[in-house]
Amino acid sequence: MREDLIQLKERTLEALSNLQNMDELNDLRVKILGKKGELTQVLRGMAKLTAEERPVIGKLANEIKDELESKFSEKMRLIKKAVQEQKMQQEFIDVTIPTKISVGSKHPLTLVLDEIKEIFIGLGYEVAEGPEVELDYYNFEALNTPADHPARDVQDTFYITEKILLRTQTSPVQVRTMEKQSPPLKIIAPGRVYRSDSVDATHSPMFHQVEGLTVGEGFTMGDLKGTLVKFVHEMFGRNRKARFRPHFFPFTEPSAEMDISCIACEGKGCRVCSYTGWLEILGCGMVHPNVFRNVGLDPEKVNGFAFGMGVERIAMLKYGINDMRLFFENDLRFLRQF
Ligand code: PHE
Repeated sequence: MREDLIQLKERTLEALSNLQNMDELNDLRVKILGKKGELTQVLRGMAKLTAEERPVIGKLANEIKDELESKFSEKMRLIKKAVQEQKMQQEFIDVTIPTKISVGSKHPLTLVLDEIKEIFIGLGYEVAEGPEVELDYYNFEALNTPADHPARDVQDTFYITEKILLRTQTSPVQVRTMEKQSPPLKIIAPGRVYRSDSVDATHSPMFHQVEGLTVGEGFTMGDLKGTLVKFVHEMFGRNRKARFRPHFFPFTEPSAEMDISCIACEGKGCRVCSYTGWLEILGCGMVHPNVFRNVGLDPEKVNGFAFGMGVERIAMLKYGINDMRLFFENDLRFLRQF
């Protein structure tokens, strides 16, 4: 019987070392150590043993049982570990493999708009918004634009009804902001504007502007110039020169247009700047007293300045784009360059 036990142990250990998975392990455990297992079968024979032999064989049987049990546990641990490792291998992700997913890029107008916002936010401005479908009141009337002003011509403006139109400029946001917020305030208002122009290299019935408005006390044209020259230096580089030319806008007085030295010829004169050396980039001026009156502010107590620029124009100058239609055609060969 001793031989049987030892043989059983040897066979079991042999089988244990060859098996590969939990199912096989469990089957073997039941087959050997289970209630009806082989070890139990062998121990049945104990009844036939003598009184001397019985404790000796009993002890051996217990030792073998313990040993086998601990060997089973150990093997179980090893299998679990192997399974775990295999799983980790399968789930391994190599983050250094170059990805084939092509990421899009920002539209050049968005890039320029982001940059304009960044510059003015850096100067303490906040971003405001207004509707593109606007009341005639905000687009013209409140901006001191009399009924007979050429800008109100139906030729230039898309009217929806007699009193409702597509805004032709972002300036109405000046009025809307001053109605809601009291000075001091510094806002920029980016957005789409619409004019009844036919499409060509420099015109589009829809384009983008960024409005600027600063209201407080004691501002001068010097503050306006300082702010806009700073903008030019940030946007086009320190060497870019700026000049202000007297102009007219109904809602500013005095009014001016700002030019920058030509980007193509550095001011020498070329086709891009019509041989003037200068490129016009925005309109500006000190807020007209009537505009303050229209929003219930006392022009004796507050003043300020405003400006408005075309985003397409600035993007064209910055990137050397010669046709405005490129912005709206969504030709990937164009867009991929930014
Ligand atoms: N709204 C004017 C335009 O569209 C620009 C402007 C804005 C001028 C603010 C002065 C002050 O041409």
